Amino acid sequence: MDVTALIDTVSRTRSQADELTQQEIIGRLSAALTEFTTSAENQHFAEKYHPSGNYTRLLLNSPRDAYQIVLVFWGPGKGSPIHDHDATIGAVSALTGETKEIKYLVTGHVGKYVELAEASRFTIAPGRITPILPEDDKQLHLMVNEEKQWAATVHVYLSAIRRYRQYEAAPGGAFHAAETRLWFDECEVGRRMPARTSGVRGEE
Ligand SMILES: [Fe+2]
Repeated sequence: MDVTALIDTVSRTRSQADELTQQEIIGRLSAALTEFTTSAENQHFAEKYHPSGNYTRLLLNSPRDAYQIVLVFWGPGKGSPIHDHDATIGAVSALTGETKEIKYLVTGHVGKYVELAEASRFTIAPGRITPILPEDDKQLHLMVNEEKQWAATVHVYLSAIRRYRQYEAAPGGAFHAAETRLWFDECEVGRRMPARTSGVRGEE
């Protein structure tokens, strides 16, 4: 599946979202991401891309769209803080490398602080998808590239994220939620990606 087909699938899923259950939405996004991330041509694009920084974030579609498809490059050892996704539905996979994901659950509020507990761990790799759902235990996570090679991950957000929250550790073990603006190093990068790619299984 090439980037145009991925964008079309996400756009159609977004416009039909009112008639779909959350599981149906995740099913469609996961199927598309599996085909997109197991495409040798798409993987090659990520392998030969030279990110400008240790954490580079590219928007593949237009910043005017109501949804976002984001390609993120992670240098060896680089990771994100714990963060939410502003309650959007979405899905995440990888084009190259592996990243570890830890999902967190909000277990309590103490004044302006929140208490978090680890909910699950997952290894994100090509064809392996982790869902992002508004539910408390599927909304907060961190990601980290613990490998010696670069990793490139693909994030689909059915509702475009403008602002989200990062959870910073505070004394006593609780976390402070800091509102953050989502930025991109570059937009509409999909225009430079390969067209009409085939999956590794040769289904297209
Ligand atoms: Fe995330």
